[in-house]
Amino acid sequence: MCGIVGYVGPRDAAPIILDGLARLEYRGYDSAGIAVQNGGGVQIRRDVGKLGNLRAKVAAQPIDGHIGIGHTRWATHGVPAERNAHPHISQDGLFVLVHNGIVENYLPLRDELTAEGVRFSSETDTEVIVHLIEKYARRIGTDTDQQVIEAARAAVSRLTGAHAIVVLPTHLPHLLIATRIGNAGGVIVGLGEGEHYIASDIPAILEHTRDMIYLEHRQMAVVRADGVGIQTLEGALIKAKVHHVAFDAVSAAKGEFKHFMQKEIFEQAKGITDTLAGRIDRDHARVHLHDLNLTDERARALRRIVSVACGTSYYSALVGKFYLEQFARVAVEVEYGSEYRYRDPMLDAETAVLAITQSGETVDTLAAMEYARSHGAAVWSIVNAVGSQAMRLADGFIGMNVGPEIGVASTKTFTASIVDQYLLAVALGTARGTLTEERRRCLVEDLAKLPDILRRTLALDPLIQALAGKLHAYTDFLYLGRGAQYPIALEGALKLKEISYIHAEGYPAGEMKHGPIALIDETMPVVAIALKDALYEKMISQIEQVKARGGRVIALATEGDPYIAGKADDVLYLPDCPDMLAPVMVSLPMQLLAYHIAVWRGTDVDQPRNLAKSVTVE
Ligand code: AGP
Repeated sequence: MCGIVGYVGPRDAAPIILDGLARLEYRGYDSAGIAVQNGGGVQIRRDVGKLGNLRAKVAAQPIDGHIGIGHTRWATHGVPAERNAHPHISQDGLFVLVHNGIVENYLPLRDELTAEGVRFSSETDTEVIVHLIEKYARRIGTDTDQQVIEAARAAVSRLTGAHAIVVLPTHLPHLLIATRIGNAGGVIVGLGEGEHYIASDIPAILEHTRDMIYLEHRQMAVVRADGVGIQTLEGALIKAKVHHVAFDAVSAAKGEFKHFMQKEIFEQAKGITDTLAGRIDRDHARVHLHDLNLTDERARALRRIVSVACGTSYYSALVGKFYLEQFARVAVEVEYGSEYRYRDPMLDAETAVLAITQSGETVDTLAAMEYARSHGAAVWSIVNAVGSQAMRLADGFIGMNVGPEIGVASTKTFTASIVDQYLLAVALGTARGTLTEERRRCLVEDLAKLPDILRRTLALDPLIQALAGKLHAYTDFLYLGRGAQYPIALEGALKLKEISYIHAEGYPAGEMKHGPIALIDETMPVVAIALKDALYEKMISQIEQVKARGGRVIALATEGDPYIAGKADDVLYLPDCPDMLAPVMVSLPMQLLAYHIAVWRGTDVDQPRNLAKSVTVE
């Protein structure tokens, strides 16, 4: 979703800003813009489509200067168009501004400003902010940094909703003012030597600095080349903590792979090794979750877990429910982050809210965390993005530890978050005394086998690619699973939808006869998860029902199954895997099938249309 980059210092601002925006491309956007100030005045370039279009414009009409701001926009108010792209400029030309978030009260503000004679040049909600700053600056004054800061403060204080805003006063070309209100993505100030950066996300500025200040709710940063000051929105000065970011920018390169998504699928065997590193003690059959701050007392007092998440992370939570209920005997409810806070849910001190989010910035999940906090529940998170808000807001967290995920479609973070919940369930089960030592030992040993099972599963790639060749022209798919494989059917269908734009539905196999069976014919392939587990016979009878209606079945089966070939049109034989971890294994062929079908169809696999990597608006 929208990205922000700002720079002030001795170097040329434009290349730093454009390269920073390029590192945020994976988040999804539909237009981009940049403003750079030099002695001769502010220069703004904006364009729709990919960043390449903006770069071409900047190359054709170069802009130079040592201070600037840039933005990638994901349209909310107003179509993707040059006039709606940021930065926006005030009528007097003294302020340019970029913004992430939604001005929820923009209609009355727009009416107020229109009545005062302001002419709007876009359909965006954002434009009201820059005109408000001009309005207050006219009253307070525009001569000094302090006057301009006050004007920005007065303007942003009028906004409702969540916001990340950066203002460049064009007549004071040494000053950037950044504000964060609520959760509209991060506002990060990067610290350099005689130069400073602002970004919505760490990767945008990671090649320049690893020392960062994360603005919190209702904080402003006053950023100049020679210093950074942090204050509350009310003007009280704050001593902000400087975080040193350690993650590896090199892992954010595609290497030998055609797409980031492909690379990230293939990273999963190693990824799970990293997720487990330092956390499983095979000698004592124990799990250690160092950042969770879980005491035995807290674990024993726990009566309920509410998992909140969106999209793929929601499906991960559905798998985790099986682990937490079976290993730790604690009741689990799984909730959509986007729905949770709107129905007055019941929470208490014996409940922990577990937020699952790879980006750690999904606004609905963050809002659910805040709701939980204000209603007395403990708040935990499972997060991949280091330093993200979901990590910082929680009482304790479990990192996915699989490195940055660039492809918009989640893959390695899905499997890592499932494994994190397995670890949590074992840790809770140990503390609560609901797992015998023998069972614990077995569960921990199973985990240790997982990376190798995933490696063998990934070796099926050529078969899956060939299968995709047979399937890519179909327009509707049904995915069936049972038990803990049902969420994997949902996730398989979501992956296909997201990157190939093919309609697909996931269903619990036993529900098929209650409706979707009406859709079955030779034009709708059915992907059925039919491993040799406790529900195998039941799955076979669902497959029979599909075949009896002329359907085409692709079965994901266990190697050595002698019967399945006689039931399905195509079979992918997967390695033998402990039942509880089989959802992780089955995720891989689901991801590969969606990936190869999308490649066949020639879609933009890493940045599918309309999607964003972290969804920072409601
Ligand atoms: C995953 O492929 C999707 N792009 C999307 O559903 C995603 O899982 C969802 O937006 C939640 O993201 P989060 O894990 O960063 O909170």
